Amino acid sequence: MRYQRPKGTADILPEEAKKWQYIEDTARMIFDNYRYHEIRTPMFESFDVFSRTSGDTSDIVTKEMYDFMDKGDRHLSLRPEGTAGVVRAFIENKLYGPEHQKPVKVYYIGPMFRYERPQSGRQREFHQLGVEAFGSEEPALDVEVIAMGMDLLRHFGLKDLRLALNTLGDKESRDAYRKALIEYLEPHYDELSDDSKTRLHKNPLRVLDSKDKRDKKFVKDAPSILDYLDEESQKHFDAVKSLLSDLGIDYTIDPTMVRGLDYYSHTIFEIMADSKALGEGYTTICAGGRYDGLVEELGGPQTPGIGFGLGVERLLVLMEATGVSFPVLDQLDAYVVGIGEDTNPTTLKIVQALRDNGFSADRDYLDRKPKAQFKAADRLNAQYTITIGDEELKSKQAHVKEMESGKEISVPFDEIIHDFNDVITDHFND
Ligand code: HAM
Repeated sequence: MRYQRPKGTADILPEEAKKWQYIEDTARMIFDNYRYHEIRTPMFESFDVFSRTSGDTSDIVTKEMYDFMDKGDRHLSLRPEGTAGVVRAFIENKLYGPEHQKPVKVYYIGPMFRYERPQSGRQREFHQLGVEAFGSEEPALDVEVIAMGMDLLRHFGLKDLRLALNTLGDKESRDAYRKALIEYLEPHYDELSDDSKTRLHKNPLRVLDSKDKRDKKFVKDAPSILDYLDEESQKHFDAVKSLLSDLGIDYTIDPTMVRGLDYYSHTIFEIMADSKALGEGYTTICAGGRYDGLVEELGGPQTPGIGFGLGVERLLVLMEATGVSFPVLDQLDAYVVGIGEDTNPTTLKIVQALRDNGFSADRDYLDRKPKAQFKAADRLNAQYTITIGDEELKSKQAHVKEMESGKEISVPFDEIIHDFNDVITDHFND
């Protein structure tokens, strides 16, 4: 019986993992520049943490949750997204307290789980780079978060980006819009898809997000949220747009964008990247928005918040399709070649000593002939080879060769063990 990984999951093998490390390291550096700090929350939470926040009628809760009862009869779910768990942690650990500088800015990198139909860039276990910032209603923070998303993608070599922007306003604006939308859709009730029929009264905004042809027909002429914004919501949205322009960030307003999660208010956005190389138009790769009521919804004090999630698998697919090259991160400083069985203890000792001194070093463990060992050193891109045979054992000197220049010298074991840095600077760095 051969086992296979579960559908919609992937094994990230060492060669591929190097690309992941590059992405994660670069993201950490950028998050740090913006002063966001890492938070690590559990991979699973109470089912309610997600159902209360994503929304009972969202696809995530109705169709995509990996939920289960544990042996203690607790209803748990693997996290489908990062925001809800971070909000739960923000409240539970009282990060709203006066000892925490506002806004509290955090980021996370990790796996998320959604029972979706797997396809290119869409998996059941996928990974997000995400950020959340709590405690400020300032439109400038919305713009910082959006700018950071764009910045990240540009750092990864994706140039042709589109920013789609919308607002859902505050609760009052949304309630007024909801009412107008229900009034507009109700006469067409019989013609809507089954999903939209269920959602019409519970959450009519969801209907705007429907991919069903039957719904799209009506969505086209539906009232726009932008006509239902109250003064405060309009002011916030205008400020976001104006600050984006100040930073030279182009955007398109998409009044039908509602996002797949129910916790948003005010600014919502999606950053799309050109995916012609994949035979598609533009794909959403980074998405997020404000959620000023979410902390309170989960039992915390009224605290505004905003963030985004960026799909790592999609990022990788796009980087590869657009031919973005990954910097070579793999460097082997020295490969120690042992000729003859008697050299075994010495090569091991030297390899270990080099590692102790901060060098990356490797050797043969398959009893290979010298020629094969040199070949291995070549393949591993070793900068130096250190060769030890019977003669060298007697003289307690090894041959050190710089691979690129071909220059070779004889160096006492002791110097290699204690001062390999000096060996390099004295003999090879002209
Ligand atoms: P989301 O739009 O559901 O938002 O997901 C954000 C990104 O995660 C998507 O744009 C996509 O790149 C990636 N993604 C989602 N589902 C999959 C999947 N099945 N396979 C591969 N990639 C996927 C959120 O998750 C919110 N928590 C974002 C947020 C943070 N809003 C405020 N703060």
